[in-house]
Amino acid sequence: MDNFSNSTQVTQDYIFYQGLRLPPKNLRWGGPRYLDDEFYLKSSKDRVKLLANLCGFSKNSRVLDIGCGQGCLLTGILSVYGEIKEYVGLDVHQASIDWTSKNLSSQSPPVSFKLLNIFNERYNPDGEAITKEVHFPVPERQFDTIVLVSVFSHMRLKDIQAYLKEIERVLAVKGKVFLTLFVEHGVPEEEENPKGYYREWSGALHCIRINRFTFEDMVYDSGLIIDYFRYRHTNDGQSSYILSLKDDSPFQAKVFQS
Ligand SMILES: C[S@@+](CC[C@H](N)C(=O)[O-])C[C@H]1O[C@@H](n2cnc3c(N)ncnc32)[C@H](O)[C@@H]1O
Repeated sequence: MDNFSNSTQVTQDYIFYQGLRLPPKNLRWGGPRYLDDEFYLKSSKDRVKLLANLCGFSKNSRVLDIGCGQGCLLTGILSVYGEIKEYVGLDVHQASIDWTSKNLSSQSPPVSFKLLNIFNERYNPDGEAITKEVHFPVPERQFDTIVLVSVFSHMRLKDIQAYLKEIERVLAVKGKVFLTLFVEHGVPEEEENPKGYYREWSGALHCIRINRFTFEDMVYDSGLIIDYFRYRHTNDGQSSYILSLKDDSPFQAKVFQS
Protein backbone atom coordinates (compact mmCIF):
# COMPACT_ATOMS: atom_id res chain seq x y z
CA MET A 1 0.00 0.00 0.00
CA ASP A 2 2.91 2.27 -0.75
CA ASN A 3 0.89 4.72 -2.83
CA PHE A 4 -1.49 5.30 0.11
CA SER A 5 -2.92 8.64 1.17
CA ASN A 6 -6.28 9.23 2.86
CA SER A 7 -6.55 12.76 1.53
CA THR A 8 -6.09 11.94 -2.13
CA GLN A 9 -6.72 14.66 -4.72
CA VAL A 10 -7.97 13.13 -7.94
CA THR A 11 -6.02 14.72 -10.75
CA GLN A 12 -7.55 12.90 -13.69
CA ASP A 13 -11.05 11.53 -14.33
CA TYR A 14 -10.20 7.99 -15.43
CA ILE A 15 -7.95 5.86 -17.61
CA PHE A 16 -9.76 4.17 -20.47
CA TYR A 17 -8.26 0.71 -20.91
CA GLN A 18 -9.67 -2.21 -22.92
CA GLY A 19 -13.10 -0.58 -22.94
CA LEU A 20 -13.18 -0.08 -19.15
CA ARG A 21 -12.73 2.89 -16.84
CA LEU A 22 -9.77 2.36 -14.50
CA PRO A 23 -9.07 4.75 -11.61
CA PRO A 24 -6.39 7.40 -11.97
CA LYS A 25 -3.07 6.09 -10.69
CA ASN A 26 -2.88 8.37 -7.65
CA LEU A 27 -6.10 6.83 -6.35
CA ARG A 28 -5.16 3.13 -6.61
CA TRP A 29 -4.37 0.91 -3.60
CA GLY A 30 -2.03 -2.05 -3.41
CA GLY A 31 1.44 -0.70 -4.12
CA PRO A 32 3.35 0.00 -7.32
CA ARG A 33 2.26 -3.16 -9.20
CA TYR A 34 -1.26 -1.80 -9.46
CA LEU A 35 -0.07 1.30 -11.30
CA ASP A 36 0.36 -0.92 -14.33
CA ASP A 37 -3.01 -1.07 -16.15
CA GLU A 38 -2.42 -4.58 -17.50
CA PHE A 39 -1.61 -5.89 -14.01
CA TYR A 40 -4.57 -4.01 -12.48
CA LEU A 41 -7.02 -5.56 -14.91
CA LYS A 42 -5.50 -9.05 -14.78
CA SER A 43 -5.57 -9.14 -10.98
CA SER A 44 -9.22 -8.04 -10.96
CA LYS A 45 -10.14 -10.74 -13.49
CA ASP A 46 -8.25 -13.36 -11.48
CA ARG A 47 -10.29 -12.40 -8.42
CA VAL A 48 -13.51 -12.95 -10.35
CA LYS A 49 -12.36 -16.36 -11.60
CA LEU A 50 -11.43 -17.35 -8.05
CA LEU A 51 -14.90 -16.35 -6.83
CA ALA A 52 -16.48 -18.31 -9.68
CA ASN A 53 -14.45 -21.42 -8.80
CA LEU A 54 -14.81 -21.27 -5.03
CA CYS A 55 -18.13 -19.50 -4.38
CA GLY A 56 -20.26 -20.30 -7.43
CA PHE A 57 -20.11 -16.64 -8.44
CA SER A 58 -21.56 -15.77 -11.86
CA LYS A 59 -23.14 -12.89 -13.77
CA ASN A 60 -26.41 -13.91 -12.08
CA SER A 61 -25.04 -13.12 -8.63
CA ARG A 62 -25.95 -10.21 -6.43
CA VAL A 63 -22.66 -9.02 -5.02
CA LEU A 64 -21.82 -6.80 -2.06
CA ASP A 65 -18.22 -5.56 -2.17
CA ILE A 66 -17.38 -4.24 1.32
CA GLY A 67 -14.30 -2.02 1.30
CA CYS A 68 -14.64 -1.77 -2.46
CA GLY A 69 -11.96 0.92 -2.84
CA GLN A 70 -12.03 2.02 -6.47
CA GLY A 71 -14.22 -0.87 -7.60
CA CYS A 72 -11.39 -3.13 -8.77
CA LEU A 73 -13.64 -6.18 -8.36
CA LEU A 74 -16.38 -4.61 -10.47
CA THR A 75 -13.86 -3.90 -13.22
CA GLY A 76 -12.96 -7.59 -13.27
CA ILE A 77 -16.64 -8.61 -13.30
CA LEU A 78 -17.43 -6.35 -16.26
CA SER A 79 -14.34 -7.54 -18.11
CA VAL A 80 -15.16 -11.24 -17.62
CA TYR A 81 -19.00 -11.18 -17.95
CA GLY A 82 -19.90 -7.75 -19.33
CA GLU A 83 -22.85 -7.66 -16.90
CA ILE A 84 -23.95 -8.51 -13.36
CA LYS A 85 -27.35 -8.99 -11.71
CA GLU A 86 -26.53 -6.49 -8.95
CA TYR A 87 -23.37 -4.92 -7.54
CA VAL A 88 -23.18 -2.68 -4.44
CA GLY A 89 -19.85 -1.28 -3.26
CA LEU A 90 -19.45 0.10 0.28
CA ASP A 91 -16.45 1.98 1.62
CA VAL A 92 -15.43 4.48 4.29
CA HIS A 93 -13.03 6.33 1.98
CA GLN A 94 -14.72 9.42 0.58
CA ALA A 95 -12.44 9.98 -2.45
CA SER A 96 -12.93 6.38 -3.60
CA ILE A 97 -16.71 6.55 -3.27
CA ASP A 98 -16.76 9.91 -5.07
CA TRP A 99 -14.72 8.46 -7.93
CA THR A 100 -16.63 5.18 -8.25
CA SER A 101 -20.04 6.89 -7.98
CA LYS A 102 -19.10 9.31 -10.74
CA ASN A 103 -17.35 6.86 -13.06
CA LEU A 104 -18.69 3.35 -12.44
CA SER A 105 -22.28 3.64 -11.17
CA SER A 106 -24.95 2.61 -13.66
CA GLN A 107 -28.56 1.52 -13.92
CA SER A 108 -27.82 -1.29 -16.31
CA PRO A 109 -26.16 -3.32 -14.98
CA PRO A 110 -27.40 -2.12 -11.59
CA VAL A 111 -24.25 -0.82 -9.93
CA SER A 112 -24.13 1.53 -6.94
CA PHE A 113 -21.57 2.76 -4.42
CA LYS A 114 -22.31 4.03 -0.92
CA LEU A 115 -20.20 5.77 1.69
CA LEU A 116 -20.16 4.35 5.21
CA ASN A 117 -19.13 7.20 7.46
CA ILE A 118 -17.43 4.89 9.94
CA PHE A 119 -14.25 5.74 11.81
CA ASN A 120 -11.09 4.09 10.54
CA GLU A 121 -7.79 5.65 11.67
CA ARG A 122 -6.24 4.96 8.28
CA TYR A 123 -9.01 5.53 5.76
CA ASN A 124 -11.60 7.71 7.49
CA PRO A 125 -10.14 9.39 10.59
CA ASP A 126 -13.11 11.81 10.82
CA GLY A 127 -15.78 9.10 10.69
CA GLU A 128 -18.06 8.01 13.53
CA ALA A 129 -16.86 5.23 15.80
CA ILE A 130 -18.97 2.06 15.95
CA THR A 131 -20.44 1.95 19.44
CA LYS A 132 -21.93 -1.53 19.26
CA GLU A 133 -23.61 -2.34 15.98
CA VAL A 134 -23.18 -1.29 12.38
CA HIS A 135 -25.89 -0.97 9.74
CA PHE A 136 -25.27 -1.36 6.01
CA PRO A 137 -27.79 0.56 3.85
CA VAL A 138 -28.92 -2.59 2.03
CA PRO A 139 -31.82 -5.07 2.52
CA GLU A 140 -31.69 -8.23 4.61
CA ARG A 141 -30.69 -11.55 2.92
CA GLN A 142 -30.00 -9.71 -0.35
CA PHE A 143 -26.53 -10.87 -1.47
CA ASP A 144 -25.34 -14.21 -2.89
CA THR A 145 -21.71 -13.13 -2.73
CA ILE A 146 -20.16 -10.80 -0.18
CA VAL A 147 -16.51 -9.90 -0.69
CA LEU A 148 -13.96 -8.23 1.62
CA VAL A 149 -10.50 -8.33 0.07
CA SER A 150 -7.81 -6.71 2.26
CA VAL A 151 -10.39 -4.96 4.45
CA PHE A 152 -10.30 -6.80 7.79
CA SER A 153 -6.50 -6.52 7.44
CA HIS A 154 -6.98 -2.79 8.23
CA MET A 155 -9.73 -2.97 10.85
CA ARG A 156 -9.86 -3.32 14.66
CA LEU A 157 -11.18 -6.55 16.09
CA LYS A 158 -14.22 -4.93 17.73
CA ASP A 159 -15.21 -3.41 14.38
CA ILE A 160 -14.69 -6.77 12.64
CA GLN A 161 -17.07 -8.30 15.17
CA ALA A 162 -19.78 -5.73 14.36
CA TYR A 163 -19.21 -6.28 10.62
CA LEU A 164 -19.57 -10.07 10.86
CA LYS A 165 -22.95 -9.67 12.57
CA GLU A 166 -24.17 -7.27 9.88
CA ILE A 167 -22.81 -9.51 7.12
CA GLU A 168 -24.91 -12.33 8.58
CA ARG A 169 -28.01 -10.10 8.23
CA VAL A 170 -27.51 -9.25 4.56
CA LEU A 171 -26.18 -12.62 3.28
CA ALA A 172 -28.68 -14.63 1.19
CA VAL A 173 -29.66 -18.05 2.49
CA LYS A 174 -27.31 -20.00 0.20
CA GLY A 175 -24.85 -17.13 -0.12
CA LYS A 176 -21.08 -17.11 0.41
CA VAL A 177 -18.72 -14.59 1.97
CA PHE A 178 -15.17 -14.43 0.63
CA LEU A 179 -12.68 -12.50 2.76
CA THR A 180 -8.97 -12.13 3.35
CA LEU A 181 -7.07 -11.07 6.48
CA PHE A 182 -3.92 -11.74 8.51
CA VAL A 183 -4.55 -14.59 10.96
CA GLU A 184 -1.99 -16.64 12.87
CA HIS A 185 -1.83 -19.16 15.72
CA GLY A 186 -0.13 -18.33 19.02
CA VAL A 187 -0.34 -14.53 18.63
CA PRO A 188 -2.26 -11.92 20.68
CA GLU A 189 -5.95 -11.45 19.85
CA GLU A 190 -5.17 -8.31 17.86
CA GLU A 191 -1.88 -6.65 16.97
CA GLU A 192 -1.20 -3.54 14.90
CA ASN A 193 1.84 -3.48 12.59
CA PRO A 194 3.56 -6.54 14.16
CA LYS A 195 7.35 -6.27 14.02
CA GLY A 196 9.22 -8.77 11.84
CA TYR A 197 6.01 -10.00 10.22
CA TYR A 198 6.61 -10.14 6.46
CA ARG A 199 7.79 -6.54 6.06
CA GLU A 200 7.99 -3.12 7.71
CA TRP A 201 4.54 -1.66 8.40
CA SER A 202 4.05 2.04 8.93
CA GLY A 203 1.12 4.26 9.84
CA ALA A 204 -2.15 3.49 11.56
CA LEU A 205 -3.76 0.12 10.73
CA HIS A 206 -1.29 -0.71 7.97
CA CYS A 207 -1.46 -4.33 9.11
CA ILE A 208 -3.84 -5.78 11.70
CA ARG A 209 -2.99 -9.35 12.65
CA ILE A 210 -5.62 -11.40 14.45
CA ASN A 211 -5.41 -14.64 16.44
CA ARG A 212 -6.95 -17.32 14.26
CA PHE A 213 -9.05 -18.94 17.01
CA THR A 214 -10.35 -15.55 18.19
CA PHE A 215 -11.49 -14.74 14.66
CA GLU A 216 -13.05 -18.13 14.06
CA ASP A 217 -14.98 -18.01 17.35
CA MET A 218 -16.25 -14.60 16.33
CA VAL A 219 -17.42 -15.98 12.97
CA TYR A 220 -19.35 -18.74 14.72
CA ASP A 221 -20.86 -16.36 17.30
CA SER A 222 -22.12 -14.17 14.44
CA GLY A 223 -24.24 -16.99 13.03
CA LEU A 224 -21.78 -17.90 10.27
CA ILE A 225 -19.68 -20.99 9.60
CA ILE A 226 -16.38 -21.58 7.83
CA ASP A 227 -16.61 -23.51 4.56
CA TYR A 228 -13.02 -23.01 3.48
CA PHE A 229 -9.71 -21.71 4.81
CA ARG A 230 -6.46 -21.20 2.94
CA TYR A 231 -3.43 -20.10 4.91
CA ARG A 232 -1.14 -17.22 3.85
CA HIS A 233 -1.67 -17.49 0.13
CA THR A 234 -2.73 -14.01 -0.96
CA ASN A 235 -2.07 -10.24 -0.67
CA ASP A 236 1.16 -9.85 1.37
CA GLY A 237 0.56 -13.16 3.21
CA GLN A 238 -3.11 -12.84 4.08
CA SER A 239 -5.22 -15.97 4.49
CA SER A 240 -8.61 -16.39 2.90
CA TYR A 241 -11.91 -17.69 4.22
CA ILE A 242 -15.24 -18.60 2.70
CA LEU A 243 -18.17 -18.33 5.10
CA SER A 244 -21.84 -19.19 4.88
CA LEU A 245 -24.89 -19.02 7.15
CA LYS A 246 -25.01 -21.45 10.04
CA ASP A 247 -27.68 -24.02 9.29
CA ASP A 248 -29.51 -24.96 12.45
CA SER A 249 -31.75 -27.59 10.85
CA PRO A 250 -31.39 -31.12 12.30
CA PHE A 251 -28.28 -32.92 11.08
CA GLN A 252 -28.94 -35.49 8.36
CA ALA A 253 -26.29 -38.20 8.46
CA LYS A 254 -24.87 -38.89 5.02
CA VAL A 255 -22.82 -41.86 3.94
CA PHE A 256 -20.21 -41.25 1.31
CA GLN A 257 -19.66 -44.07 -1.13
CA SER A 258 -16.70 -44.47 -3.43
C1 LIG B 1 -6.41 -2.21 0.89
S1 LIG B 1 -7.87 -1.46 0.39
C2 LIG B 1 -8.64 -2.79 -0.53
C3 LIG B 1 -9.64 -2.29 -1.53
C4 LIG B 1 -10.35 -3.36 -2.34
N1 LIG B 1 -11.08 -4.30 -1.50
C5 LIG B 1 -9.38 -4.05 -3.23
O1 LIG B 1 -9.05 -5.21 -2.95
O2 LIG B 1 -8.94 -3.45 -4.21
C6 LIG B 1 -8.82 -1.43 1.87
C7 LIG B 1 -10.17 -0.78 1.68
O3 LIG B 1 -10.98 -1.03 2.82
C8 LIG B 1 -11.68 0.16 3.10
N2 LIG B 1 -12.12 0.12 4.50
C9 LIG B 1 -11.38 0.22 5.62
N3 LIG B 1 -12.15 0.13 6.71
C10 LIG B 1 -13.42 -0.06 6.27
C11 LIG B 1 -14.66 -0.22 6.90
N4 LIG B 1 -14.79 -0.18 8.23
N5 LIG B 1 -15.75 -0.39 6.13
C12 LIG B 1 -15.67 -0.41 4.78
N6 LIG B 1 -14.51 -0.24 4.13
C13 LIG B 1 -13.40 -0.06 4.85
C14 LIG B 1 -10.68 1.24 2.79
O4 LIG B 1 -11.25 2.51 2.67
C15 LIG B 1 -10.08 0.72 1.50
O5 LIG B 1 -10.82 1.11 0.39
